[in-house]
Amino acid sequence: MPRAGSAARRKPRLAADQRKTLLAAAKAALRHAYAPYSGFQVGAALLTESGAVFTGCNVENASYGLTTCAERTAIGSAVAAEGPAMRIRGIAIWSHPERPCAPCGACRQVIAEFGPDAVVLFQGQDKVQELRARELLPAGFTF
Ligand code: THU
Repeated sequence: MPRAGSAARRKPRLAADQRKTLLAAAKAALRHAYAPYSGFQVGAALLTESGAVFTGCNVENASYGLTTCAERTAIGSAVAAEGPAMRIRGIAIWSHPERPCAPCGACRQVIAEFGPDAVVLFQGQDKVQELRARELLPAGFTF
């Protein structure tokens, strides 16, 4: 739990309808995934502080290391639309086949760049997990 009085505690968590919207948008986005190598489709949907929703999916490549994760695809779209001031309020990640899908380490770093207090929703073992970006990436790198 964040400490009393910390920024993470002062900022309201996502409302139930926002949570629902993000999860539905992430599930819809994974249908666009390009994942012929892993067969693991991932969708992401984020809500910016200005109230817009952006989605992304994973985009794989024959040169495997060039693969882009769903979260970073969504974040790229959000920055392209809103510019460098874009900040993430919440982000949902969903996979198909439906399996636990916590964001990878690289995506945690990129999510934290644009929203250390962002609410991150993802599939856990048997339910949706909800954690702040800074909780998912303790002691993350900052420049
Ligand atoms: N993947 C994501 O899109 N996000 C993550 O956070 C973890 C992994 C994708 C990358 C690759 O296309 C597939 O899942 C299997 O690793």
